[in-house]
Amino acid sequence: MPQRPYVIDEMISAKQIAARIEELASEIRAEYSDTDKLVVVGLLRGSFVFIADLVRELDLPVEVDFLEASSYGNATESSREVRILKDLRGEIEGRDVLVVEDIVDTGYTLKHVRHLLSGRAPRKLKIIALLDKPARREVDIKADWIGFSIPDEFVVGYGIDFAQRNRNLPYIGKVRFTE
Ligand code: IMP
Repeated sequence: MPQRPYVIDEMISAKQIAARIEELASEIRAEYSDTDKLVVVGLLRGSFVFIADLVRELDLPVEVDFLEASSYGNATESSREVRILKDLRGEIEGRDVLVVEDIVDTGYTLKHVRHLLSGRAPRKLKIIALLDKPARREVDIKADWIGFSIPDEFVVGYGIDFAQRNRNLPYIGKVRFTE
């Protein structure tokens, strides 16, 4: 299906993102200061840029693992059905775990992932999301840390895509259809 034409308006600059990550990292360092190893779980694919910047600010012993849950496909609306496409490589039982998500929208993805991972008995399970769209929430889930709370707009950049494009933008921008 041909894509409707759109432009991208900058919403959060690369500088603002970097400054916020520094703040979040210091809170996370404090929360996990007693850990022998933190397992940082990135939700693919949207969190790959965020996780890369975040772990480099953490200054803790970390292991990085990834989980892929089904996403929007080519649409801008959630399917509400969450499937695990790729599971973790490592065990998390008894471990300190930090789940890293790009955006909490309806909340279905995080709720499903939290349920799945907490069933594996980690010592501590916390969630960080770069962006939160509280107006869109349909299920009760809250991340422990949020980078930015944003209005109900479809956004791209900094790892986040629209139909697999625009992940490489260094900033977060909102999609504005021109037709
Ligand atoms: P949820 O299950 O509805 O909370 O959806 C979460 C997932 O939907 C995110 O991890 C993103 O992959 C995707 N998503 C939600 N909002 C946007 C957006 O504005 N742009 C791109 N992807 C989005």
